[in-house]
Amino acid sequence: MPLSTALVATDRPARYLKQLVSHLGHKATTQLSGSGRGTVHLDAGTCVLTADSEGLCLIATAMDIEGLNRVQDAVARHLVRFATQEALSVDWTEPVAGEDLAGLGPVVDDYLLAHCTPPDDALQELADTTREATGGASRMQVSADEGALLTMLTRLVNARFAVEVGTFTGYSSVCIARGLAADGRLLTCDISDEWTSIGRPSWERAGVADRIELKLGPALDTLRALPAEPAIDIAFIDADKANYPAYYEEIVQRLRPGGLVALDNVFLGGRVFDPAYQEEHHLAMRRLNEVIVGDERVESVMLPVRDGLTLARKR
Ligand SMILES: C[S@@+](CC[C@H](N)C(=O)[O-])C[C@H]1O[C@@H](n2cnc3c(N)ncnc32)[C@H](O)[C@@H]1O
Repeated sequence: MPLSTALVATDRPARYLKQLVSHLGHKATTQLSGSGRGTVHLDAGTCVLTADSEGLCLIATAMDIEGLNRVQDAVARHLVRFATQEALSVDWTEPVAGEDLAGLGPVVDDYLLAHCTPPDDALQELADTTREATGGASRMQVSADEGALLTMLTRLVNARFAVEVGTFTGYSSVCIARGLAADGRLLTCDISDEWTSIGRPSWERAGVADRIELKLGPALDTLRALPAEPAIDIAFIDADKANYPAYYEEIVQRLRPGGLVALDNVFLGGRVFDPAYQEEHHLAMRRLNEVIVGDERVESVMLPVRDGLTLARKR
C-alpha cells in the first residue's frame, strides 16, 4: 500500500518547494517545473510536491511500506528544518494502494449518468444482453456516459473513418458508429468471435450494422495491414493493455491532422499511480502516459472519465 499524501498548511508553499528540491538535488534526482510542481526521486521512492492556495501538497510513493516511511521521513524532516519562521506540521495519510484511489465514487458516478444523454432502447438492450451473457466480464463495457462522449467526439471531428481496438460486444462500437458522417465506416478489431457475436443483433437494431466492419484477429496485425488511405479520423483503444504503446504508435502514424485517438483505462484501476504494481501492462501504461505527454505529434489531455481517458489530437 505504498501511497500517502500530506497537505502542509503554509502561506509560502512555493518557497519550501523550491528549497526542498534544490537541497535534495545534491543527493537525489530532482525536477522542478514552472507550474509549481517539483519531484524528488530518492533511493527509497518518490515525492511529488505541488504548491497551491491551500499550502504545499505532498504525494509520496514507494515500492513498499518501508520505502514509503523513508520518503515520508526525509521530506518531513527537511521541511520542518527549513521553516524557521513558522512551525510546519506534516501529517501523512495512512498508506493506501493505488486501486483504492480509483474512480470518483457512486454519488458522482450516479450524478454523471443522470446528466448526460441517456442510452436509447437499442443501447440499453445491448448493455442488458451483455450482462446476462457474459456476467462479470460485462464490466469491460464502456459506461453510458463514456459511450455518449464517444458519439460526441466522433461527431465533433466529422469522422468518416473510425478505428476501434477492442470491440467486446460492441457498445462502444455502436456509440462511435452513431457519430459518423452519413457515409462513414468503423473498423473494429477483436480476437473473440464469442463476445462480438453476442452484440451483433443489437448493432442491427441500433441501425448501424452496415457501418461497422468487424475484423477478428490480433489488432496489431489488423492495424499494420491498413492501407495509407483513408487516414483515420478517430480511434478508440480499449483492449489488452500491454499492447497499448504499439496500438498508439500504429494509429498516430495513420491519423489525419486534427484526428483524435482516445485511450481508455489509462489509470489501470488506480494501479498506474502505485509503483508496487510492476507487471508488464503496468509498466507499459506508465511509460505510454509519459510518451504521449512528450509526443510532439499530438496535443493531449488526460481526463478522469471512469478509469481514465486520454485524448490525443494529431497536430
Ligand atoms: C475492454 S474490452 C472492450 C470493451 C468495448 N470497448 C466495449 O465498450 O464494450 C477489451 C476487448 O479487447 C479484446 N482483445 C484482447 N486482446 C486483443 C488483441 N490482441 N487484439 C484484438 N482484441 C483484443 C478482448 O477480446 C475484449 O473483447
